[in-house]
Order: sequence, then structure tokens, then C-alpha cells
Amino acid sequence: MKRIKVLVTGGAGYIGAHTVVELHKSGYDAVIADNLSNSSEDVLTGIEKITGEKPVFERVDCTDYNALADLFLRHKDISYAIHFAAFKAVGESVSDPMKYYRNNLISLINLIEIMTSAGESSIVFSSSCTVYGQPSANYLPVGEDAPLQPAQSPYGKTKQMCEDILKDASQAMKERLKVISLRYFNPVGAHPSALIGELPMGVPQNLLPFVAQTAAGVREFLNVWGDDYNTPDGSCIRDYIYVCDLAKAHVAALDRMTERNGKMDENIEYYNLGTGRGLSVLEVIDLFKRANSVDVPFKIAPRRPGDVEQVWADPSKANKVLGWRADTPVESVMQSAWKWEKRIRGME
Ligand code: UD1
Repeated sequence: MKRIKVLVTGGAGYIGAHTVVELHKSGYDAVIADNLSNSSEDVLTGIEKITGEKPVFERVDCTDYNALADLFLRHKDISYAIHFAAFKAVGESVSDPMKYYRNNLISLINLIEIMTSAGESSIVFSSSCTVYGQPSANYLPVGEDAPLQPAQSPYGKTKQMCEDILKDASQAMKERLKVISLRYFNPVGAHPSALIGELPMGVPQNLLPFVAQTAAGVREFLNVWGDDYNTPDGSCIRDYIYVCDLAKAHVAALDRMTERNGKMDENIEYYNLGTGRGLSVLEVIDLFKRANSVDVPFKIAPRRPGDVEQVWADPSKANKVLGWRADTPVESVMQSAWKWEKRIRGME
């Protein structure tokens, strides 16, 4: 069977790199487009060591229309894309919203316009559970039919706007554009080889990188943002999904678009990607400590503005329709995060 070529924008990023590895395993040829604004070329070496093949890399900023159009002229046989290239720091998006609107919206608009002008195209979009805000109790766990709520940050708004853009474009170009929007819950962990993983720039804002840095002694202690929420132990609840499981969902989405596995019912589909299990911040700390036999000192601190209290996924649609499941045991996930942290700190 002829191998299908897939453009992976943001393919040198955290989730992108893991997805490139899974695509390789599943017989797809990835072409990475990345401007390396939040990643480095070392990631490409990591991918090469894992797959045994140097990944095809194009240093392109997707907000640059001409540069992206040129890429498609060099790769005329690409009609599938997975679009990761976007900024994702919630706090920064509040202080610098224009950076987020410019980057996240224009990249997507360019991609849609360039791909559809050449012919039939399919785009897998990297979305987020942030589109659901804080779901009411009767919508927990969250299915795809839960009402969307106004996003709390410009970052979240860009995810909602991008979904709207994709919906309108796919409705208007029914014969030309197919879309699968994947709404991620909280991606964590690293490839078991520890050759690729999450590289937070500066002080990490996300929980797992902060936990790992605290265990490594880089941070003195972790702040648990709030223990007075209406949850069993008072800390916030999230659905932490292993990045390699998440990467596999992108392959499953492509298999559906390419009709290797089923056929799309509509030309835009949405899937929630999570484990179906909610974990509190305190439970995560405890699991990390026990899985790795390390200490993680923490203090209870005031709530973080904008945090939702609890959200976890109902992944049954993705389980059933995509034939995909996040099934890596949480202990292995925590171990992968620690192995990666030790590697980047030179502790092994
Ligand atoms: C949010 C978005 C998610 C987005 C991500 C990008 C929601 C529900 N989720 O994730 O869609 O992709 O940002 O960054 O809006 N915590 C601490 N101490 C820390 C760090 C975090 O207690 O030092 C707690 C937070 O308060 C939260 C949990 O850990 O309860 C997870 O936080 P984080 O990893 O930042 O992810 P979200 O805010 O859930």
C-alpha cells in the first residue's frame, strides 16, 4: 500500500513529536513544519533515535502564508495535516492576547486556505477540553454533547474560534475539507525511551513538569493551588492522559479520514481524549511519589485564578468510533515523566 504523507505542523513540539513517532510506526510519512519557537532541533534527533529514520523537517512559520504555500509546492502530494502549531500558555495569553490571536488563528486560516485551494484536504485539529469550561455536575464526565462555555482566557478563546473556523469552512466546502477536532484533556508524561518529552521554557505552569522539577530539587516545593474546592480532598480534579496514548489517537483519526478504519459520518467530527478517570492534584503528587520512590515537598497555596474545579472526560465516543483507548497504567505514566526529568537534568 502506498504510504500516505502527512503534514505535522508543530511536529517538533511536545505532543507533535510523540505523534510523529506513532505515525512512523503506523506506516504514515510525516513532514514536520515547525518554526522552533517553543522547541529545538534536538527533538528531531530524539525522533530519529526512536524511529531509526531522520524525520523530514521544514523550518516554516505557519503564520507566514508564502512560506507555508511554498512548502506545499515542495510536497504536492500532501492532502492530510495534523495541526499542532499554536501557543498554549494560559497565563501568557492573558498578558499578551494579540500574540495568541495572531499566531493561533492565522496559522490555521493559512493552512485551510492553502490546502483547500489545491484540492481535497483533511485536517486533524489539536483542540482542548478548555472549550467546555466548568461543566455542570450533570455533564461530568464530559461528553462531546456538553454545552461549550465562554473560554476563560484568550488561549481558550483561540481554541473555540479555531473550531468555529473549521466548522464554517468544512460546511462551506463539503466536498473539499474534512476535519477531526480532538479535544485533549491534560497531556502528561514522556516517551518511555526518554528521548522526547515536554520541555517547559522557564518556570513550568503545568502540574506534572512542576512536580518532576520539585522531585529533582530544581524547585524547593510545589504550590498546590487551592485545597478548598468542592472535591473529595479539596484540590482540583483533571483527567491526565499519557502523551503516547494521545499521539495514538491522532493516528486513529487519520485512519478514519483515510478510510483505513471506518468512514466519517460528517465532514467535521469531535472527540474527547481522556482516560475517563479524574485525579486530584494531591492524588497526582501521591502517585508520582509512589511510582518513583521520590519526595515531592508541597504547600497549600491560594486558588489560581481561572482554574476550573473539576473536569474529566467521557471518552466513550473515541473508544467506540476511533477504536482507541488511553490504557497506559498511571504508574508507568508517572515513571516516564520522572525518567525524562532525570535525563534532561543529567541525573542518570
Ligand atoms: C489548562 C487547560 C488545558 C490547556 C492547558 C494548557 C482547562 C481545564 N485546562 O490546563 O485545556 O491545554 O491549560 O496549559 O482549562 N496546579 C498546581 N500547582 C502547580 C501547577 C498546577 O496545583 O504548580 C494544579 C492546577 O491548579 C490545576 C492542575 O494542577 O488544578 C492542573 O493544572 P495545569 O497542568 O496547569 O493544567 P490545566 O490548568 O488543567
